Amino acid sequence: MSGRCTVVVGCQWGDEGKGKIVDVLAEDVEIVARYQGGANAGHTVHVADETVVLHQLPSGVLHPGKRCLLGNGVVLDLARFFEECEGLRARGIDISGRVGVSERAHLVLPYHRLLDRVLERSASEKKRIGTTGRGIGPAYESKAGRRGIRVVDAANGARFRELLDAGTERARGSMPNLDAEEARELKDALEVTVDLAERLAEYATDVGMEVADALAAGHEVLLEGAQGTALDLDHGTYPYVTSSNTTAGGAATGMGIGPTKIDAVVGVVKAYTTRVGNGPLPTAFPPDMDERMRELGGEFGATTGRPRRCGWFDAVLARYAARVNGLTGLAVTKLDVLDTLPEVSIATDYGVRDGSCMRAFPADTSSLAMVEPRYETLPGWEADTSEARSLADLPRNARAYLDRIEELTETPIQWISVGTHRDQIVRVD
Ligand code: IMP
Repeated sequence: MSGRCTVVVGCQWGDEGKGKIVDVLAEDVEIVARYQGGANAGHTVHVADETVVLHQLPSGVLHPGKRCLLGNGVVLDLARFFEECEGLRARGIDISGRVGVSERAHLVLPYHRLLDRVLERSASEKKRIGTTGRGIGPAYESKAGRRGIRVVDAANGARFRELLDAGTERARGSMPNLDAEEARELKDALEVTVDLAERLAEYATDVGMEVADALAAGHEVLLEGAQGTALDLDHGTYPYVTSSNTTAGGAATGMGIGPTKIDAVVGVVKAYTTRVGNGPLPTAFPPDMDERMRELGGEFGATTGRPRRCGWFDAVLARYAARVNGLTGLAVTKLDVLDTLPEVSIATDYGVRDGSCMRAFPADTSSLAMVEPRYETLPGWEADTSEARSLADLPRNARAYLDRIEELTETPIQWISVGTHRDQIVRVD
């Protein structure tokens, strides 16, 4: 009997609370794996009195005994990877023999990080993406340009050095104006990278095969996406996107399993919307409300600390996400953040200047910046939901809000998160 494979994807612009949902779902699985992205992600998980922010390792690593894998679709930052492993060990979390990295995954190298910074600062204000500065775009560019360096290359010291020197020289050609400090930083970071690469061998594995074997043995596997649908390289608000396929299709290519092996896709949406980095956010709040929601929801980037822009729930985007990911269910997070609001709104479609209306999420990002969302406003519940553990515990108006999300996205809600802690979750049967 084959095991069950579930993908967890973000359905907005990232920061939906996937870490929390994966942490909850990881309880019953054998393997938790990440399939794309790199240290740009910031998954915050609260366990007991501790808050752990993970950038590269899957959130499942906080569950003792789970095997945690990084697939070939991930770009691995060696320094941050080892830092994160050490950080977990220092907290007393035993990760020995539990972490594996695909031999086929590409490395984020020091020159990628520097290129990311240099490209951003030399771009005009309008062209700037607002990246996390973690070298993600340049690393995926190297991969697509067939000049990347993979985990498997790190095993051969001499060859690795050769590839690294060639990559550095090429990158230096694109950064002729580095100042002395940056040049020194780069040189030092390259030396550290060579040392760290030697330690990678014990983590390198065939991730696709491990996942296939686990499924064949009847085990459950959870595949964890980073960022969100609107940041997907193909389906997001291009060019204000990340450089990987965040959507569920990326889970198959990014793990090395066939799409027929995936049984369920859980889409995570925040009960409102946030965005960090540049690019349009159609349902953005006016400044006062934006500030208020940021405070209520603690909406500051887990990776960069940047303030996130906030807005109402966007059902046009969520409906689009349901389609491009083939969602089988939704997890709605941070419902409790709306507890004090007298009214809550949902954007049901987008109004366009010529008077027409758009129900589908547009491909043209500049037109997205011009739309005027049409809102449906519902009464708030003005009650504490953080203690709710079943649907019946939720106030009637909160249930009505969730029902409307379900109708508009045509996707059943399976999980509702009402706080940061593991147990603050409602499972909808
Ligand atoms: P990059 O992934 O660092 O290249 O950044 C590209 C865009 O994706 C920027 O708008 C970032 O703010 C955004 N981004 C990248 N990772 C995350 C994330 O984990 N959460 C939210 N936004 C992200």
